[in-house]
Amino acid sequence: MSRLNAADRPYDIVLFGATGFVGELTARYLAEHTPEGLRWAIAGRSEEKLRRLRERLPGGAEIGVLRADVSDPASLRELAEHARVVATTVGPYVRYGDGLVAACAEAGTDYLDLTGEPEFVDLTYVRHDARARETGARLVHACGFDSVPHDLGVYFTVRQLPEGVPLSVDGYVRVGATFSGGTFASALGQFARGRRLRAAALERRRHEPRLVGRRVVTPTGAPRFAGEVGAWALPLPTVDAQIVRRSAKALERYGPDFRYRHYAAVRHLPVAVGGVAAVGALLAAAQVPPARRWLSGRLAPGDGPSSERRARSWFSVRFVGEGGGRKVFTEVAGGDPGYDETAKMLAEAALCLALDTLPPTAGQVTTAVAMGDALTERLRAAGIDFRVATIR
Ligand SMILES: NC(=O)c1ccc[n+]([C@@H]2O[C@H](COP(=O)([O-])OP(=O)(O)OC[C@H]3O[C@@H](n4cnc5c(N)ncnc54)[C@H](OP(=O)(O)O)[C@@H]3O)[C@@H](O)[C@H]2O)c1
Repeated sequence: MSRLNAADRPYDIVLFGATGFVGELTARYLAEHTPEGLRWAIAGRSEEKLRRLRERLPGGAEIGVLRADVSDPASLRELAEHARVVATTVGPYVRYGDGLVAACAEAGTDYLDLTGEPEFVDLTYVRHDARARETGARLVHACGFDSVPHDLGVYFTVRQLPEGVPLSVDGYVRVGATFSGGTFASALGQFARGRRLRAAALERRRHEPRLVGRRVVTPTGAPRFAGEVGAWALPLPTVDAQIVRRSAKALERYGPDFRYRHYAAVRHLPVAVGGVAAVGALLAAAQVPPARRWLSGRLAPGDGPSSERRARSWFSVRFVGEGGGRKVFTEVAGGDPGYDETAKMLAEAALCLALDTLPPTAGQVTTAVAMGDALTERLRAAGIDFRVATIR
């Protein structure tokens, strides 16, 4: 596997979408944390906005600027050919993302994004995984709060359990935070695309090789009171369980028979009932175009929580893992999940692909498969807690 001329490229990392809400946070994180000598650039559709952003960043003079627009495939090809690693925050990805994945797969460029859209992940697998394997490009989706704490948290939990035996892990997510215009637009768009989402999943199953000699399942589970975490557990049908399933299929360490269940954990029953009702109402409204348009006007692209609000935000994902006679309780926890920590996760993943010694992988891969240990260590060093609470 050879990454096509990757060493000769002008930039180690290019951040596409740097002028957006989470894009700017990621640019700032990179500006404050890139080691000396790393060559990196910000990219987007407005050169003027990019130059203004560069002036606000520490060490701005060293940062390159590249113009690219998702409606101009030649500009995406040029972007991919100028970098070893491209990280993109230009979403909703199902609307804007495919061209850049195609360009990176073709150019042998490593690709990272923040998608939480399963339809997009399935479509890019069908369209670009084979080419990326040929060129050596690693295509890593969901490098933000979707799905890094869950994917690496399960990876971390599995490593506390015995090898070669059936294992089960339950994940319980709690957050105290709000969201941005970009995230709201992506969520609404997804709610309206149920049929296309199922069609993409089916198409993927037709292309994906079957797992032989091992079993991996991610059942939805049922709402229940989970005494182990002292909260109501509500099944959480996000992209996270799918990402965990792909890591478990790819890595023998998850054992011969692996099960993962993904839940939102809510302490008080009325809050749990209210949460389910609110998501149900949003899901229903998203099916009606005028209601969807009205809702999407509530939060503009580029808007997001203030730094004061983000400073009060937090997340915790608790895992209960079991197998081979051992039971382990672990936790991944940090600050503002959707933005500050997401920017950190994306930036550290980009640095990890650009700089660290990693297992040889190519094609569509998860964070656990492409960079499990190295990224976990990077995030720990950057203040995200991965801890074992108890082993029985
Ligand atoms: N997985 C997670 O945990 C997580 C967390 C946070 C965000 N996200 C996702 O990340 C994405 C970005 O969120 P956000 O809040 O940062 O959104 P945002 O503020 O609306 O930013 C969107 C970015 O896309 C750029 N863009 C739009 N159309 C473009 C085009 N034709 N060509 C090139 N660039 C274009 C915008 O450029 P301009 O500045 O020129 O308009 C902007 O830089 C969303 O899909 C969101 O769902 C995921």
